[in-house]
Amino acid sequence: MKSRTLFFLFLTIFFTWACKQKPVPPEYTIQKSSVADSAMVVSPHPLATEVGVAVLQRGGNAVDAAVAVQFALAVVFPRAGNIGGGGFMVIRRQDGAVDAIDYREKAPLAADRDMYLDSAGNVIDGLSRLGHLAVGVPGTVDGLIKAHRKYGRLDLASLIEPAVQLAENGYQLTISEVNRILTYQEEFKEANTVKNVFIRDTLYEGERLVQKDLANTLRRIQINGREGFYAGETADKIVSEMKRGNGLITHEDLQQYEAQWRTPLSGQYKNYRIIAMPPSSSGGVALLQMLEMIEPYPIADWGFRDVRTVHLMAEAERRAYADRAEYMGDSDYYDVPLLQLLDSAYLDDRMLDFSLDSATVSENILAGDFKLLKESFETTHTSIIDPDGNAVSVTTTLNSNFGSKVMVGQAGFFLNNEMDDFSAKPGVPNQFGLVGAEANAIQPGKRMLSSMTPTIIEKNGDLFMVIGTPGGSTIMTSVFQVFLNVAEFGMDLEEAVNAGRFHHQWLPDQIRVEKGALDQALLDQLRALGHDIREVERMAVVKAIHVLENGKLHGVGDSRNPDDDAKGY
Ligand code: DON
Repeated sequence: MKSRTLFFLFLTIFFTWACKQKPVPPEYTIQKSSVADSAMVVSPHPLATEVGVAVLQRGGNAVDAAVAVQFALAVVFPRAGNIGGGGFMVIRRQDGAVDAIDYREKAPLAADRDMYLDSAGNVIDGLSRLGHLAVGVPGTVDGLIKAHRKYGRLDLASLIEPAVQLAENGYQLTISEVNRILTYQEEFKEANTVKNVFIRDTLYEGERLVQKDLANTLRRIQINGREGFYAGETADKIVSEMKRGNGLITHEDLQQYEAQWRTPLSGQYKNYRIIAMPPSSSGGVALLQMLEMIEPYPIADWGFRDVRTVHLMAEAERRAYADRAEYMGDSDYYDVPLLQLLDSAYLDDRMLDFSLDSATVSENILAGDFKLLKESFETTHTSIIDPDGNAVSVTTTLNSNFGSKVMVGQAGFFLNNEMDDFSAKPGVPNQFGLVGAEANAIQPGKRMLSSMTPTIIEKNGDLFMVIGTPGGSTIMTSVFQVFLNVAEFGMDLEEAVNAGRFHHQWLPDQIRVEKGALDQALLDQLRALGHDIREVERMAVVKAIHVLENGKLHGVGDSRNPDDDAKGY
């Protein structure tokens, strides 16, 4: 009798366990494309999108929603959503006034320009990407709090509360997150000295991920604001983590960190006004340069997949990235020649050697061949329009998936590996194959150059588009192409976002083309002009909102990320 009872007990336990292990896709409704009358949120995760929509529904504005979404993404999109990273936010108010905040990470005060070089002066592979030395001083929390203080309508604690709840009670993992978390197990083990909830042998779709440490950290921010992160217990935990892993960030680094308000760049392309991020991102400059360089050419008449169009755009991209490598860095530390880089006469001159008959050659090749790393990249972008017509475009990142892979012990959040965005040595490519020079050399307290391009576009003075994307070096070219797909090639936003893309970044001297984006005949024509072509799986994951002529809002999440979600009302 006793053994029968034991047997049934065993069966029950086994059955419960077996059921628990069974993958059950979470019942999230994901809308890739959505049209609404008054408000729209597009983010990389349905739970974060829903947090943003709920904030708007209870009277918050676009900045409130952006803040709440960013904190939520730190929980439900841990591979890139963050409080241990940084980003950029571009704001356009309903009355047309624009603003931008730069909360990019900074090099620690103990950083040194040669910190990633060995005694022979060669870059030590991986040191700026994995582990504690890769971490820049995080900017997200200060940036979000400053943005909220200037523009927010609702109480900050209430905007952080949904994130606290998601961390405290857990949320169901989508298959895309499960795969990412499992992919990085070896690196998590290598980079961390303290066990955390991301280090595990198994994980299944639909499993509920509870993050108690993160919930406690978020509560400290809720209660103490900036000080809840840059001082007190959280700061102590960050500094202890750095000490355990021989990292550089100190209490002084954290106390000194300040996000910066910046005047957004503003440039005209035909009857469109492009409002974008100035340095420490290169995104706005590159986007404006590319648009100015192609403006004289009749690309709409040539057509979307005409060889002249693709060739012209690739050549404009090549020239913008060549300037990026030489001239762009943190303008607080390096005198970036912004006026010159955006001067029309200069940009006309840049195209003097452009020929429809042949590819230009990227001269002075400083770097070796671009190494395609096994590492994959992840950043996160959110586009929001509120019922009053205020718009926010915000891109934030840990850089690589889960950043440095270091989670702050007992604080529950990953730290970025943004130091890799500096030029570790002139001409030596970073993980995106981007090269840089003095302008982007490492200096204590300096921000590393970014490609993030959160952008807002007006047409004839009215709000037209909110757009941005992850994608490392391919961010600017993706924003460039999706905008042109709508503005020049008459595509509906969904078609525009999902259309295949191509990318030229000067070095390596090749056009990267998404599989299937250009047909064989077009690829042959480009090769005949002298272009080297490399096929890649996918690039960038655009999230955008298009204000339609009837005033409705069309939000689109990219089909390249299964979890991208656009919802409005
Ligand atoms: O700031 C930058 O340009 C990079 N750290 C962005 C990284 C990124 O987009 C990775 N994502 N896909």
